[in-house]
Order: sequence, then C-alpha cells, then structure tokens
Amino acid sequence: MPTNLLSDSFFESLAASTCDLAEAVTLPPACYTSAEFYEFEKEALYAHEWLCVGRESFVARPGDFFTTRIIGEPIIVSRTLTGEIKAMSAVCQHRAMLVAEGHGNARGFVCPYHHWSYALDGKLVGAPAMNKTCDFDKAANSLPAFAVELWNGFIFINFDVDAAPLAPRLAKVAEAIAGYDLANAEGPRPDPAPTLPWNWKVMFENNNDGYHASRLHQGPLHDFVPSGRAEFPPSLPEEAGFLRFNGTLHADASFNATQRAVLPIFPGLSDEARNRMTFANVPPTLSLVMTSDMVIYLILRPNGPESLEMDTGLLFAPGAMKDPAFEHKLDMNMRATAHIIAQDMHVDECVQVGLRSRFAPRGRYSWQEGAQGQFNAWLVHRYLATHQGPSEALRFAAE
Ligand code: FES
Ligand SMILES: [Fe+2]
Repeated sequence: MPTNLLSDSFFESLAASTCDLAEAVTLPPACYTSAEFYEFEKEALYAHEWLCVGRESFVARPGDFFTTRIIGEPIIVSRTLTGEIKAMSAVCQHRAMLVAEGHGNARGFVCPYHHWSYALDGKLVGAPAMNKTCDFDKAANSLPAFAVELWNGFIFINFDVDAAPLAPRLAKVAEAIAGYDLANAEGPRPDPAPTLPWNWKVMFENNNDGYHASRLHQGPLHDFVPSGRAEFPPSLPEEAGFLRFNGTLHADASFNATQRAVLPIFPGLSDEARNRMTFANVPPTLSLVMTSDMVIYLILRPNGPESLEMDTGLLFAPGAMKDPAFEHKLDMNMRATAHIIAQDMHVDECVQVGLRSRFAPRGRYSWQEGAQGQFNAWLVHRYLATHQGPSEALRFAAE
C-alpha cells in the first residue's frame, strides 16, 4: 500500500488535470479515496476557504441557533440578542462535550456535562466550582470563534478568522444570479441530511456535470436541458466560485412532467436567465441548481474520505409559498427531481466503487465537462499552495 502519497511527483502530476480541457485528464483516483489525502484537503481547503453552513432564515430571531458539522467539526451558528450572526465551535472548552445539538432558541448554551455556560456569542460566562482551580481564566475558555460572511442570504463561515472576504471573489457568480435575488428568496429548513458513501468531490462533480444530462437522465423529465447547450463562462482559480449555464429548449423550463414552471417565476429574471438553467458552484460546500421557479441548494459536508452529509434546501420567489396549491405544485417538482436524483445517487455510489479499483483511470474529458476543468483548477491551485507552503511560494517569487 502506498504510505507516502503526498510526494512532489504526485503534486507535479496534478498539472495534467488543469491544462486545456481537450488535453486534460481527471484527478488521480487517490484524491477521492485516500485518508491521507482527505487529511491534506482539510488543511488545503477547509481550514481557509469560506464554507456555507445554511441560510440567514435559520436564525431569524435573536436567540435562534442551529448546529452543523463540516469535516467532522461541530459548529454552532447563532443570532445574538443584539441581532448579530455568530459562528463558533460547539466543543466545550472544559472536556470537549458538545454544548449544543440540533437547533432552537436559547439565551445561551449550558454544557449538559458540568454546566459551564456560554453566551450566544460563545463567551464563557459561568463555570461552577472552579474557584479552587489555579489561574483559571474565564476569558481564555470561550468557544473558539469563526469568521462569518453573509452572501445572498447564505451564511458562510471560515475557520481562518483572518481570511480575505468572500464576496469580492464571487462577483461574476453574483452578477449571473442577481435576478434570483436570493437574499429575499424563501424556503423551509432542509430535512436532516443523509450520509452518502462517496467522496465529496464525486458529489460536487456530479452537480457540476453537463455531460451526463442527455445520457443518464435521458427522457421526458430532462430532455429539455440538452447537454449540447452547455456553456461554461470562464473563471480564474483564485475566484471563489464558477458557473455553468445550460440552455433549455423552451423558456421557464422546470423539472416536472409538464417540463414548465408550475410555481411563480422569480420576478427579477431576464429573458436570458429564463431560457437556461444556471448552476452556480462555490466550492467546497455550496452548489446551486437554478430553474425559473425553484432553486435547489446543496451544502456538501464531508465527514471522511469516502463519506459526506448533504443538506438539500429549496428556495422560491417571495410569496410563492402562500399559494393554497403550493404543496401540490411543489410535489410535481419534487417527484421529478427525486427520480433524477435517484439516478445521480446510484452513479455516485458506483463511481466511488470504481475509484477504489486498481483499474480506475485518469480519464479524458468531453467539451461538455467544462465545469470539471474549472473545478480542477480551483482545487489544484489550493493543493499546490499548501504543498509548496509559503516559503516555497516566496522562493518561486524570488526566482
Ligand atoms: S465538558 Fe462541558 S462543562 Fe464539562
Ligand atoms: Fe444528474
């Protein structure tokens, strides 16, 4: 078994995935299966990138909070009594119990184990019977705080509190989806996330993939979004996200048996936007599937090299949910999407099996997989920056 996957030659081989798509090959299969590589990704991607955790509406009122996990890290997001959104570790700074689970409304968090209590912003405010403990400094035992940024109604956190802001690196994505006005879109809290037995990138690439639309999903629920109409606006690897457009055979196409929107159309959409589906990707966590009447958002939360949890949320035009027939119309969309998602999930599970095989390829790409090339560029840029480290980067800059 390889014990030192992360060699210089391994990282040099990644360049073959970031060249022109006509020449490129897929990433090495070990990137999707290796525990060592997953640990590397935690540092290269998750320790410094902005990570979507949910929507502002999940913490609408002061005292609202919810918990989540990304790369196994227990996270609390709360709204303080003064209305600020805060994010912090859920790990008690006494003996590592989780101070909150699920979601709710609270004045603060009391750890169930020994009743240390924390304010909604994570500050330690009470620790019983610690009066005989030498040099115990309450201020130094608060829950570790994370950076927070709001973007289009989504809450992003960053474990790196000094990270550069997200929005300036998402300008092109924001412009392309502005007509959806997602900050004001409405939707319920997603159901509890299932655990999926495949690498997070298998999932991200599946969401990212225009090539399979006319093949795997061939049939009346998908044929109006043909792979041949895929477009990939260019992006730079330094940017925080990228887009895929897919032209539709008629305006306001939607995933249901009528092939047309049945829910209210997002009012700000241009004709151009109404004649395509828009897929917006903010790796490593957020993927948006946008039709004229419904936006599906997927939040990918890895919990191992071959396992992730995925929150699947829905957003609608303001007021759409007030229609007395809303549930019935939504049911039309959900029946079709469930059928399509089942096809995708079967593929994802089998791809992970294939990636573990000694015969797993570094395969070639179709032009209809342009977004995979952009994803590779985004990934490899960060992998190399971490592998080379700041001192190497400085050495290259000096040469
Ligand atoms: S582990 Fe939380 S108070 Fe002891
Ligand atoms: Fe699909």
